[in-house]
Amino acid sequence: MTYYDQVTEAAELLKAILGAYSPRIGIVLGSGLGAVAKAVSEPMVVPYAEIPHFPRSTVAGHSGRIVAGLLGSVPIAMMQGRVHFYEGYSPQQVTFPMRVLGALGVKSVVLTNAAGGIQDGYHVGQLVALSDHINHMGWNPLFGPNEPRFAVRPGAGLRFFDMTEAYSKRLRALAIETAAEEGFVLDEGVYMAVTGPSFETPAEIRAFRTMGATLVGMSTVPETIVARHMGIEVLGISCVTNLAAGLGATPLSHEEVSETGHLVERRLAALLTRLVPKIAAEMEAEP
Ligand code: HPA
Repeated sequence: MTYYDQVTEAAELLKAILGAYSPRIGIVLGSGLGAVAKAVSEPMVVPYAEIPHFPRSTVAGHSGRIVAGLLGSVPIAMMQGRVHFYEGYSPQQVTFPMRVLGALGVKSVVLTNAAGGIQDGYHVGQLVALSDHINHMGWNPLFGPNEPRFAVRPGAGLRFFDMTEAYSKRLRALAIETAAEEGFVLDEGVYMAVTGPSFETPAEIRAFRTMGATLVGMSTVPETIVARHMGIEVLGISCVTNLAAGLGATPLSHEEVSETGHLVERRLAALLTRLVPKIAAEMEAEP
């Protein structure tokens, strides 16, 4: 069975389970941010284990299920838990859920993550909208034959494609506006993706800062790349769960990452609940 057939099979099964729900927007919840799924009304929960070919997360704090339902009255599909390359999954497996979202007909996604803050002035618990990324993972999820059938828009699914606006300007503008309505400032930042699982050394963080990164993390970028391959618009939001290595007073730990995530979940849920209807309206007006 080809990878494309596996994605199709997973998507068909999900469509059969979701019935009348046809998600318009996909949302991926990062480390420590899983409780955002509580904001979904009329939730239908599908464990990854019940979906053929779906990879399962082995990381504490990533529960591994799809929560489909309404967020701000808009049908969405939330991935509660993602898988990472450092868990031993292949690039194709890491991006399988994003391919399935595309096959479900989703045309925009919100990718959230926990990240280390590199830029001076960032504080722990702050949310940052991604304006761009640097792929420092040493691989690309599109290695291998091109599969144009993954395209969700005309002109997408190409072997070579533009990444100038990997993160949608219009979705970012809506996010910044919505954060202001919620009473906080949403900064913009550049996300450096590393494979992990070891955290960085202080010398690496100094190098990344010089390279132009303001955030560092172990996810999101592979998903953004396959989303853009399909023609899906991407909004990326990082939660600064810790200051990057060498910048804070304490050693880095997964516990700190999860704990900070939990402190921010409610704010992120409120932001997304207000933002998702605006994204849906924007997509409707100009798909
Ligand atoms: N480095 C890499 N990934 C991370 C970090 C970090 O400091 N914090 C949360 N995810």
